[in-house]
Amino acid sequence: MCSIPIFQRNPWVRSSLFSPPESTDTHDVKQGSVIRIAAVGDLHCSFISPEFLRSVCHEMKEKADVVVLCGDLTHRGDPEEANTLSECLENFSCPVPGVLGNHDHEQGKADIIRQVFEEAGIIILDGTSHRVNGIDCIGVKGFGGGFGNEASQPWGEAIMKEFVQETQQEARNFEAALRQSKNTHRVAILHYAPIRETVEGEAKEIIPFFGSSMLEEVLMRYPVNVVFHGHAHHGKMEGRISNHIPVWNAAMPLLHRTNPAMLPFFVHTLKLATPIDFHET
Ligand SMILES: [Fe+2]
Ligand SMILES: [Fe+2]
Repeated sequence: MCSIPIFQRNPWVRSSLFSPPESTDTHDVKQGSVIRIAAVGDLHCSFISPEFLRSVCHEMKEKADVVVLCGDLTHRGDPEEANTLSECLENFSCPVPGVLGNHDHEQGKADIIRQVFEEAGIIILDGTSHRVNGIDCIGVKGFGGGFGNEASQPWGEAIMKEFVQETQQEARNFEAALRQSKNTHRVAILHYAPIRETVEGEAKEIIPFFGSSMLEEVLMRYPVNVVFHGHAHHGKMEGRISNHIPVWNAAMPLLHRTNPAMLPFFVHTLKLATPIDFHET
């Protein structure tokens, strides 16, 4: 990995003027305050150097109140790789919720990887919700299947049905976690994309393997303030769900390619207690 200058100003700082979903619980949230959410996915440890990883983690800690990890935290799904990131994030001063990605499942040791991260204080979400700094983080890995009219259908061969059923199950788990959250402020963390827009740039032949509209359908029923995902290294950074909720593709290779002079993460500033307006542009 090439050397990266010390962080000075992150061009990916974004401000959210989007509304919270309906709820009554504003536990430990100060009205009118803001939460700075740093997001990054696809770190692919040990594909990147530990020194670079430490720089990224240090700067995220300095610039954010919450650090969100969007999966593919390891490269080969080896628990040893998870140790590298855990050491960087251990005793972090801000909460670190995240999800695992497909690479974290490569060796069938996702449970061990999860345990390594959790022992370091990282909150691994898998169809679950966790409240940090007054916002509910709802996370699920997700799966492929494609988007819109081109989405795969559970029809024909058993293996094709199993593929689609896996996506359906991930979407159901996501929906169940969102349904349980009664918070006014909610953030969705995914590995796979919920919309095609942030996948554009990947080879069109493999786009169905980058996400599924089923995740978007859930977010239409249970809105959140902002969605983060990874996985699409050659995708697009910014998109919106049909109800105008902002979606950020936080894949580290994409962020690094977009601006190689900056450390590859961005900060989304979530304004709390903002009036509901899901159609703001
Ligand atoms: Fe990845
Ligand atoms: Fe991935």
